[in-house]
Amino acid sequence: MTDASRGGQRADGELPYASDYHAPVLCKTAVDGLVADSGGVYVDGTLGGGGHTAALLDRLDDNATVFGIDRDDEAIAFASRRLDRDIKSGRLRIVRGNAANLVELLTPLGVSRIDGLLMDLGVSSHQLDSPGRGFSHSREGVLDMRMHRAEHDSGDDPDLTSAGDLINASTERALSNLLRMFGEEPRARRIAAAIVAARPLHTTTELADVVRGAVPRTDEAKSLARVFQALRVAVNRELESLEAALAAATDLTRPGGRLVMIAYHSLEDRIVKRYMRSGDTTGVVRRDLYGNALAPWRPLGRVVKPDAAEVAANPRARSARLRVAERT
Ligand SMILES: C[S@@+](CC[C@H](N)C(=O)[O-])C[C@H]1O[C@@H](n2cnc3c(N)ncnc32)[C@H](O)[C@@H]1O
Repeated sequence: MTDASRGGQRADGELPYASDYHAPVLCKTAVDGLVADSGGVYVDGTLGGGGHTAALLDRLDDNATVFGIDRDDEAIAFASRRLDRDIKSGRLRIVRGNAANLVELLTPLGVSRIDGLLMDLGVSSHQLDSPGRGFSHSREGVLDMRMHRAEHDSGDDPDLTSAGDLINASTERALSNLLRMFGEEPRARRIAAAIVAARPLHTTTELADVVRGAVPRTDEAKSLARVFQALRVAVNRELESLEAALAAATDLTRPGGRLVMIAYHSLEDRIVKRYMRSGDTTGVVRRDLYGNALAPWRPLGRVVKPDAAEVAANPRARSARLRVAERT
């Protein structure tokens, strides 16, 4: 079955497998990098609107299995509708949870070895465009930003704090550190002081106005993006989750299996690059007595970025960096 016969997709020549929920980035490159055995067991750790998963299912043989995981109920609901026939045919299992807990999520399903993991990090267009989720500075909404909300029991960080609670309860120093660490914001101290002076803040537009007031007009757009990124990364513990998912992939992937990671900012990409090189976040390769590398992954090819045509069709793809590695 090709994607044209699935529900939810958009007829979009430039962006294959796009839906109204999300347009998958570097879709063909990701599937090419992931599939080493077309009859294998694969995991999409960031299912979203199911675009990459749909492309993967089209590429794989009928006896292959795909597990699609997401932290977000809305992604699970959309992808379950879109990929209903693949679920019914038994080729796809959709699982709600954090890919950080990959081993715990897959073990009860009888899966102890996989042929590849794909992660397309960050947020979906649907999350960004939904004002009620609070991810975007250009849409009025409550300062929430949780990918997963506590009212559901999935074993995924039941204690995630919303962005509003984080902003209103943190010390000025903690806020400044957070903006610097997770947003690489050079004016972190000044913005943190402005936030503390304006608290309590409840909406995305209130926060955006405070940031605009704290930085020169020429830097407004960049600072807004960095501040909102920093809060989102902190609220969802994204870097911790990424590191845990990489470690789980190392445990689960068979030798010769693949890891495909798409990162959207330098903090994520640095973790991925180092992990693929050394098997940890130092990037320093350990060697045996004979000088042979002891790393669990071997990077394949160079980092891939979307071409001009993809960025023109989908501007949100512009910061994407895709890396592929093979399990040694
Ligand atoms: C960029 S979107 C993925 C879009 C997807 N590739 C597609 O083609 O539609 C990222 C998705 O991953 C989810 N996500 C991010 N980090 C996650 C994690 N650690 N575990 C599970 N889901 C995660 C988000 O909720 C979001 O739905």
